[in-house]
Amino acid sequence: MGLCLSVCTMVALTLFVCLSLEEPKGPEFSINGAYLTRFNYIKTNHTLSYKLPLNITLTNPYKDPFELIDTQVTAYYQKERFGLVTLIDSRTTFRLEAKNTTVFQNAVVQGWKPMVFEEPVLPNTAHFYSIDVVIAFKQKIREIDYTMSGEIMCNLNVPLSFNEISCNGFKPTKCFQVFLE
Ligand SMILES: *[C@@H]1O[C@H](CO)[C@@H](O)[C@H](O)[C@H]1NC(C)=O
Ligand SMILES: *[C@@H]1O[C@H](CO)[C@@H](O)[C@H](O)[C@H]1NC(C)=O
Ligand SMILES: *[C@@H]1O[C@H](CO)[C@@H](O)[C@H](O)[C@H]1NC(C)=O
Repeated sequence: MGLCLSVCTMVALTLFVCLSLEEPKGPEFSINGAYLTRFNYIKTNHTLSYKLPLNITLTNPYKDPFELIDTQVTAYYQKERFGLVTLIDSRTTFRLEAKNTTVFQNAVVQGWKPMVFEEPVLPNTAHFYSIDVVIAFKQKIREIDYTMSGEIMCNLNVPLSFNEISCNGFKPTKCFQVFLE
């Protein structure tokens, strides 16, 4: 009994160590600034007109540099995708040194789109809109010549701000990894 238990523990421990060593880790993103300078839903023709500038912070918390390609930011309202902006295009490589941070300043998701929503397009009582931002990235692993894909989710509460000020009540928001493969 005792032997079996300790064997089991050993196996579990080994598995745990292996998994935590091999588990690939992606870049860390957070949104440190966001506001909507336009978010109009025109009921007559079901058109959403939007302009959402974002300050996106990318952190490399690891001991090695990493390289990103083909990174896009997509915005959702009421689970409906309304717009996107390219942060790093597929032809350029963005390298971030170990333990370093960079800010993509004023990446703007803007345009208009015919859409139908289940709920009325309204801010909450504090004049914030719940907007989800998904950052899809590709990470190059040079050593093994491999490209990983991943997705990061950021659940934001974004204020309307027609005069484009950043100190408008938006709370910097950490994003979390949805998947990495
Ligand atoms: C991004 O940061 C700059 C500099 O701090 C600021 O002027 C700008 O308003 C910010 N943009 C957003 C969307 O928060
Ligand atoms: C929808 O209607 C608004 C207001 O009438 C107009 O400004 C806008 O261009 C229209 N959008 C489309 C896609 O037709
Ligand atoms: C981090 O990046 C900045 C700007 O790209 C650079 O000036 C700085 O030297 C870097 N720091 C490290 C530790 O690599």
